[in-house]
Amino acid sequence: MNNTQSYIESNKDKFLEELLELLKIPSVSADPAFASDVKKAAEFVKESLVKAGCDLVEVHQTAGHPIVYGEKTIDSSLPTILVYGHYDVQPADPIELWDSPPFEPVIKKTDIHPEGAIFARGSCDDKGQMFMHVKAFEAMSESGEIPCNVKFMIEGEEEVGSVNLGQFCKDNKEKLACDVVLISDTSVIANDVPSVTVGLRGMSYVEVEITGPSKDLHSGVYGGAVGNPVNILCDMIASLKDSDNHITIPGFYDNVEIVSIEERAAMNEAPFDIEKYKKDLNIEAVDGEKGYTVLEQTSIRPTLELNGIWGGYIGKGAKTVLPSQAFAKISMRLVPNQTPNEITELFTNHFKSIAPDSVKVKVTPHHGGNPAVTPTDTLEYKAASMAMEKTYGKKPIPVRGGGSIPIVSLFEKVLGTKTVLMGFGLDSDSIHSPNEHYGLFNFYKGIETIPYYFHYYTELKK
Ligand code: BES
Ligand code: MN
Ligand code: MN
Repeated sequence: MNNTQSYIESNKDKFLEELLELLKIPSVSADPAFASDVKKAAEFVKESLVKAGCDLVEVHQTAGHPIVYGEKTIDSSLPTILVYGHYDVQPADPIELWDSPPFEPVIKKTDIHPEGAIFARGSCDDKGQMFMHVKAFEAMSESGEIPCNVKFMIEGEEEVGSVNLGQFCKDNKEKLACDVVLISDTSVIANDVPSVTVGLRGMSYVEVEITGPSKDLHSGVYGGAVGNPVNILCDMIASLKDSDNHITIPGFYDNVEIVSIEERAAMNEAPFDIEKYKKDLNIEAVDGEKGYTVLEQTSIRPTLELNGIWGGYIGKGAKTVLPSQAFAKISMRLVPNQTPNEITELFTNHFKSIAPDSVKVKVTPHHGGNPAVTPTDTLEYKAASMAMEKTYGKKPIPVRGGGSIPIVSLFEKVLGTKTVLMGFGLDSDSIHSPNEHYGLFNFYKGIETIPYYFHYYTELKK
């Protein structure tokens, strides 16, 4: 791996410049107005895989955004690593809260990124992390040190629930056949506390619509008699959690995996400073589910969160109106043994049952995804542990993450392959938020570590 590492060392500036070009493309998958930019980003990824040394690169059109596939076969008797990542990004809104434009990357130093961090939408999630794999591969390729076969599957719909990727995997099982899926789309505990993510939560996402009178009414003429959909929606939503922050939907917890006392104790050994956590978030207190620590609340426990709520008059000044409708977007994070279908159904039945007769309720499911947990006693995991120990000088801690990557459970189901989540971001990198950034330390550490993963994994498979 020495030639690979010296190639990396002498090409750091080039790698960074190329990433900055990719970050300038506003590939927002959720908003159709950016569809041509999403396409442009796919082409960029395609070109970079060609230049990096893949011998086959294809852009597959889907009903939504394209999937970029690339491969390099060394020898069919060697193992195959499939790298998954995404080139799409979350919308940059609210743009006015960014200190610099989201698609004009700048490098600035911060307290935890003294070497500098790249500020741009997608810098950490996931363009920066996905691109580390392309550059690590280029380094191995240029140095003649690719230890095994490589496949890339880089999609453009992760941030909208990977709606077309499942079908693509089912239709292309043979093309995607591999021994392990390697993903960098998660975080480490800190730059001096490496970790490997061994769990992701699942997701059930619904939109609700409450309809009262068929049109907006004068709130004086009708108010007091006619049910107000905004008031009613607030009441209904408030009732979904009790004073201990337990979710009140009947059956919601029935299948939740019970994590052993020992495992919970081990989990809480991970370094975590509650005072710093509150200070960083500018909050006086946390407000999670009673009976669980913050680390547990954000990993092994399911949640129900309002993502948005609207209805009635929200313009300037005051308008007296009894609105006809009210709306909310609600996401539920799921843990092992909960499934999105089951939870969406429980939610829908319960939500309809608690509505007063004065309103009609419509529940529309959006995307969903299953949770995933990966074992630590496998050589897939061991290779990640060894690679990180090599470059960080410390063994990484296995941690369950709170976020979701819905396609991971499908890799296991459809391709029969385990996934390794070797991410390099930090939770404080503001992904999905204004001023998203990615440390230069993290970007380069990833590029340095990935070739060791390839090397150790191939060695361990022998
Ligand atoms: N990369 C994130 C997931 C993530 C981030 C996992 C940090 C663990 C730590 C991914 O891009 C993401 O944002 N996923 C969405 C799910 C999707 C269905 C929109 C999420 O978790 O909200
Ligand atoms: Mn991501
Ligand atoms: Mn994301």
